[in-house]
Amino acid sequence: MKKISTGLLLATVLAAPSSFAVDQERAEAAYESRHGLFAMIRMYFAPMYGMMRGAPYDADVVKYNAAKISVLAGMIPDAFTVDTRDNNLDTEALDGIWDDMKDFQSKAATLADRAATLSSEGSTGQEAFASAFGGMGQACKACHDNYRQQD
Ligand code: HEC
Repeated sequence: MKKISTGLLLATVLAAPSSFAVDQERAEAAYESRHGLFAMIRMYFAPMYGMMRGAPYDADVVKYNAAKISVLAGMIPDAFTVDTRDNNLDTEALDGIWDDMKDFQSKAATLADRAATLSSEGSTGQEAFASAFGGMGQACKACHDNYRQQD
């Protein structure tokens, strides 16, 4: 008898946390995905940032990398569909994202537009590049100022 009741108790104890664990697992997976997404954005962003800081201007890189950022920007809202506010993640994402998802989405859309402009106009010459790169940078900042924890 004792064996059975221990088994039952164990089953009960395991059942409760396992449903929680799935949520936590989902939240952690969502977190990994969005970090991967921003790491990709950074990968395409860095060479252009370098050009702003004295590396030789390369129109092909601007055209290509900015177009990639525009595509990746369209994935930002998808990467935040899982609401991780209650999962105690070590995240820089502020709760406001899920309080006002429409605004968050529109800031991602602005980045997609500015990156597309950078790809087309920024590849026509160094001055146009500097101006369009600045425009795109403001779209990063506008979202970070509202939705990313500042260190
Ligand atoms: C629509 C909102 C939004 C836009 C636009 C945006 N970001 Fe972010 N970014 C975030 C949020 C939110 C985080 C924090 C994510 C987290 O910690 O889960 C973040 C984090 C990051 C990180 C850190 C990733 C990490 O692994 O910790 C980098 C790098 C980054 N962003 C670069 C950029 C660049 C470059 C741009 C513009 C080209 C940009 N972001 C535009 C919202 C945005």
